[in-house]
Amino acid sequence: MTADLLREKYLRFFESKGHKIISGASLIPENDPTVLFTTAGMHPLVPYLLGEPHPAGRRLANVQKCVRTGDIEAVGDTSHLTFFEMLGNWSLGDYFKKEAITWSYEFLTSKEWLGFDPDLISVTVFEGEGDIPRDEESIAIWKSLGIPAERIYALPKEDNWWGPAGQTGPCGPDTEMFIDTLKPACSPACRPGCHCGKYIEIWNNVFMQYNKTADGHYEPLKQANVDTGMGVERTICMLQGVESVFETELFAPLMEKIAALATTPPADEEVMQRAQRIIADHLRTATFILGDPKGGVKPGNLGANYVLRRLIRRAVRYGKMLGIVESGFTRILSAIVIENYKRAYPELQEKSDLIFTELTAEEERFAKTLAAGQREFDKVTSALKQHGQSQLSGRTAFKLYDTYGFPLEMTIELAAEQGLAVDREGFEAAFKKHQELSKQGDKTFKGGLADASETTTRLHTATHLLHAALRQVLGDHVQQKGSNITPERLRFDFTHPEKMTPGQLAEVERIVNEQIDRNLPVTMETMTIEEARAGGAIALFSAKYGEQVKVYSAGDFSKEVCGGPHAKSTGELGHFRIRKEESSSAGVRRIRAVLEAKA
Ligand code: SER
Repeated sequence: MTADLLREKYLRFFESKGHKIISGASLIPENDPTVLFTTAGMHPLVPYLLGEPHPAGRRLANVQKCVRTGDIEAVGDTSHLTFFEMLGNWSLGDYFKKEAITWSYEFLTSKEWLGFDPDLISVTVFEGEGDIPRDEESIAIWKSLGIPAERIYALPKEDNWWGPAGQTGPCGPDTEMFIDTLKPACSPACRPGCHCGKYIEIWNNVFMQYNKTADGHYEPLKQANVDTGMGVERTICMLQGVESVFETELFAPLMEKIAALATTPPADEEVMQRAQRIIADHLRTATFILGDPKGGVKPGNLGANYVLRRLIRRAVRYGKMLGIVESGFTRILSAIVIENYKRAYPELQEKSDLIFTELTAEEERFAKTLAAGQREFDKVTSALKQHGQSQLSGRTAFKLYDTYGFPLEMTIELAAEQGLAVDREGFEAAFKKHQELSKQGDKTFKGGLADASETTTRLHTATHLLHAALRQVLGDHVQQKGSNITPERLRFDFTHPEKMTPGQLAEVERIVNEQIDRNLPVTMETMTIEEARAGGAIALFSAKYGEQVKVYSAGDFSKEVCGGPHAKSTGELGHFRIRKEESSSAGVRRIRAVLEAKA
């Protein structure tokens, strides 16, 4: 079973159950300040889970690219990844637990589909908490399908609840499916959800029936939804009977090349394997982020840009640990990722130049930082030795890690060469403290568009007006290359070969404000992507042939294929002001603009 075949089978199976296949969304969420990346298939569907009708209907299925970096430290084991593909089927107020679980079981076990041995399947369900009872219904359904009671585990919220942690938005209990690898249990308490690697979670069915309110209550949603997510990499790993996701065809050529490039692989097999896996994972993720059709994320110091920088630098660091001396090795490995995925994700090949340029530039920038780190290391260690000390403090190890990008393993090895030990515990403590601080800033899932303030909605509508105005003033070569909205401002990247003149900027501003003054109604229609294009709508992102899409129009002025949400009329926007126009990359300009109260 290959990934290609799994995707195809999954979609065909759910099509046979009345689902419409929809495109996966971009990895880079548009107009949603609450997340840095698309972290789950449900994310782009939040408005529909909350009750807005989806143009393709109430039963949907798709393949969604996801980036999650919350578990980045776990990467290197057999199954954790920062990028993965999620297969999802969705009921938007249509079917519920019985159908969802029965179909999952059929797809997993039927010989016609995946043909997993039912005896290897364990499941977990929600054990209940407060007003929300134990999920007896799911337990009964699993039993009716033949899963014996001892392989059905009722677990707390931590394990079997999906939704916004501490935030508002759609959520609910879930039931998760695990494959037993038949490895020995790590302890008598070992069970699905244990991280030892005996049980691999491959699928999650979430029963989204609540909305968590700002005061922490769970109120029933207008409609009870199903949101399922099956991990492609893990599922094929289990079907192929290989030890880790890195041995599947999605990684194998990459792993081979990494091994071939390594000139001084560490003697400790585990340390070496972990480094290889981290390099493979991180460069695959970086390739997908840089190659995303929506674009706009480059290595940098903030938000999504920082995540990308961290992934590339971490890969380079581990490359150094393996003795990869080839400069530009990130590009060599990225080319393998692209080759491997170009059929399923043609955008990677289309963007390969940009991907290679950015990777190489970041690798070079980082080489300079690392050299500075080596100098710092030499300084600290010679001072220690002069004072007759034999241990490098945890704080220093952490500084080397955090400021200069030295992985702990690398510091330990370098220190050992100098006859010094490293205070691991001190490092862990400093690391934990840092992680807690950055967790507060790491926005993973926070309820998506459910939280989108009115301000971001208005900025989103302003973005459409800006786009149309730019085309009027500069010409039809203007194409959106990226869009990002925070509650404070909009940012819009577009193709244009040169700096805009002050006159052009003033004209664009004037046109947008004129459309605001006209108080144009913002309306939405659904139609096929072909109809949308034929009707003159700007359609930026690929949709499948015949796919139903939403088209938002601001009066007669702008028309774009878009997921919404938008202001009801342009009069709501206030006064539009461009704050800055600058270069974003070769041939791409960037505008930052705000909406102000009308004078
Ligand atoms: N949202 C759930 C998950 O990401 C199911 O798709 O696991």
